[in-house]
Amino acid sequence: MDLIIKNGTIVTASETYKADIAVEDGKISMIAENIDPQNAKVVDASGKMVLPGAIDAHTHLAMPFGGTISADGYESGTRAAACGGVTTVFDFVLQAKGEGLIDAVKRRNALCEPEACVDYAFHTAITDLNDDILKEMDESVKYGVPSFKVFMVYDFGVTDGTFYQVLQRSKEIGALIGVHAENREIIDTLVAKHLSEGKTSAWYHYASRPEFVEAEADSRAIRWAKELHAPLYIVHLANSGGVEEVTKARDEGYPIFAETCPQYLHFTKDVYKREDGRNFVCSPPIKGQESQDALWAAIKRGDITTVATDHCPFQSYEKDWGKDDFTKIPNGCMGIENLYPYMLSEANKGRISFNKVVELCSTNVAKVFGCAPQKGMIAPGSDADLVVYDPEKDFTISQKNMHSDIDHTIWEGVEVKGYPVMTFSRGELVYKDGEFVGSKGYGKFVKCNPIHLDGPNL
Ligand code: URP
Ligand code: ZN
Ligand code: ZN
Repeated sequence: MDLIIKNGTIVTASETYKADIAVEDGKISMIAENIDPQNAKVVDASGKMVLPGAIDAHTHLAMPFGGTISADGYESGTRAAACGGVTTVFDFVLQAKGEGLIDAVKRRNALCEPEACVDYAFHTAITDLNDDILKEMDESVKYGVPSFKVFMVYDFGVTDGTFYQVLQRSKEIGALIGVHAENREIIDTLVAKHLSEGKTSAWYHYASRPEFVEAEADSRAIRWAKELHAPLYIVHLANSGGVEEVTKARDEGYPIFAETCPQYLHFTKDVYKREDGRNFVCSPPIKGQESQDALWAAIKRGDITTVATDHCPFQSYEKDWGKDDFTKIPNGCMGIENLYPYMLSEANKGRISFNKVVELCSTNVAKVFGCAPQKGMIAPGSDADLVVYDPEKDFTISQKNMHSDIDHTIWEGVEVKGYPVMTFSRGELVYKDGEFVGSKGYGKFVKCNPIHLDGPNL
């Protein structure tokens, strides 16, 4: 035994109970009352909760995007992750034109491996499909990257035909397709209209991508998945119409899964009227109160499966490129260090249970993307990725107390009730009381298993 976390209240997706956790060789070796420490290092978690580390299912670290590269690289992004209780990140590989899928993963892994401070896995965004790539999807599944993404927007967005083909292929090989669903042509039309009328502020980012623009694309994507009986994962769902479509499909028994993000659960479209509105520009944009309410209701019903960040931050000077033209604002916001503290705070305030937060931010992510039971659980044999959480610690989020490389945060001034005080990654302490204590290059690639989701239940 190397480590014992004693006297804490263990919180999993399904249970809350008092016990000690013993760790050996980076794995949980025993969970029991009053474990004899022998020579192990002891951490006293009296009065604290012990949770599985969060798994951020959606990050864009060092991603070339919006005329620049997202401003958290693999080191700073995963350092911030550790300090927010995230012990695994799923980062997006963007396939280059003509590039093979495994080559794309290896290219990104070469950047990530020497830098990552916590464990990581990949999803690959398919941008250039042909018969060889369709075949290679199977090799990617075997390589440990069974999840792919298609974008219905941006210059690397795919055609309907490509989306249809990857969906069809996915169900044959144990893969899962994630989709960024918005209607590109309507967005382009509304952007051109607003610019021609001299409407250039950040508000018009929202006005060019209002609720129905996302809902229509959700509906179309779900329709195809239903026809094929292929599983589908809708990333960063932000609108009430889409929630209705997801709920209906799930009620009918289809394997449709939705992720939302803390920024959609906390802010509303009013942020785009603020002087710093451009800092909140992300796609899909943050919607109105009705959509926020629908997202929380879907979380409570079980129709949202995961909460992830879509962490894709840019520095203030980059956001400022769009001061006089919203189309020049690089799209994306930060959140990797805020995901678990924010969601746990909502539980601490009584909105949902702590178990539900663990389910959304950790266990379900591991189950959906094929890395359970190694990740996302507190169970003998699972990796000792653990967070010690102090429910009594009040914390006000500020750029000054964050650990990424970004010069601002959209979460500035937000008060949370309760905060992580320690994060362990495979039994190693990587964060303690506000300080990062881990090391660059410690994080390992997590090889995920094939994914077989044939109904709405995990
Ligand atoms: O605005 C966003 N979300 N930027 C990151 C890329 C994406 O669409 O997920
Ligand atoms: Zn997206
Ligand atoms: Zn994203």
